[in-house]
Amino acid sequence: MKKILVSGGAGYIGSHTIVDLLSRGYEVICADNFSRSTPHSLEGISQITGRQIIRYTVDLCDAAATALLFQDHPDLSGIIHFAAFKAVGESVEEPLRYYRNNLGSLMTLLHFTEKYKIPHFIFSSSCTVYGEPDHCPLDEQAPLKTAQSPYGATKQMCERILQDVSARTGMKTILLRYFNPAGAHPSGLLGELPLGKPQNLVPAITQFAIGKIKGFEVHGTDYPTRDGSCIRDYIHIMDLARAHTLALEYLEKNRNGESCEIFNLGSGQGTTVLEAIHAFEQASGRPLPYQAGPRRPGDVIAAYADYSRAKKLLGWEPRFSLLQIMEDAWRWEKNLVKNV
Ligand code: WQD
Repeated sequence: MKKILVSGGAGYIGSHTIVDLLSRGYEVICADNFSRSTPHSLEGISQITGRQIIRYTVDLCDAAATALLFQDHPDLSGIIHFAAFKAVGESVEEPLRYYRNNLGSLMTLLHFTEKYKIPHFIFSSSCTVYGEPDHCPLDEQAPLKTAQSPYGATKQMCERILQDVSARTGMKTILLRYFNPAGAHPSGLLGELPLGKPQNLVPAITQFAIGKIKGFEVHGTDYPTRDGSCIRDYIHIMDLARAHTLALEYLEKNRNGESCEIFNLGSGQGTTVLEAIHAFEQASGRPLPYQAGPRRPGDVIAAYADYSRAKKLLGWEPRFSLLQIMEDAWRWEKNLVKNV
């Protein structure tokens, strides 16, 4: 049974990816310092899969502490690296903390990847590396613009580090550029757990709808789009999780062409904020009385994916709809209230 280290495995994308990995017969080790997550999600994984996850509570910037994990598991066949800070606004307020954490954790892992000759590395990147696109849908050849935030800059720098290291060491790497992850596991046992006031659209909608936060604002209704609000590409978290297992299988079958390959992961559909709100109203059967507010600094007007490369090479394509995203996100939000 192949053993995979998932860093940030207690986080939103990491936890759903662990569920998919376990369902595909992998053994999983989870490393997380719980700075942006809670062990609650590991309980959710166990409830869904019936499996206990081997977990290490470790800050990956601490090489000595991280060394213990690799000494216990010198036989890893791959690493999927999610652990990073990801709040755009916070990164503007605390750039050094973002550079130290996001680059430091990657470089620690790469030190041990080289030491233990771990052959496969999958990195959690983001469409944010493209900045404001010249046109959509975006394919992997689209130029990288100057990052709009330190968070986006850390993703660009981490990609470059991985390209340089893979070229020299022969480690096979895949960079997965997510568009907008959203939704929750259909069971309602696992989902997004934003700490503090949610910055992302879908959890802001569901927390407002359930009364956890007072007020919900659309950040800008005067953009040059079909209804004045920004366009994004919302991809169901279960589709996103699946892509990681397919990426591993792609590397294991040695089908990759170069030492570092890039894949965009999105639904291929552009959805405006107002259309997303309408989809939530349909899914929940309740109106969402939003406030129209000013634009949010750093927002791009439109970004949605061309995922044909992932479809062709990984055999991946999104299967869940926007409506299912909203249904699953809403079920999760209601369960959180029940289980408090
Ligand atoms: C989507 C749209 C907001 C909240 C960021 C990162 C990206 C990834 C996902 C980590 C925008 C609008 C939001 C609200 C609103 N991060 N909005 N009211 O900014 O596209 O992407 O998060 O993986 O890398 O860049 O996602 O969900 O924050 O915003 O109107 O209360 O919803 O202005 O137009 P974003 P988002």
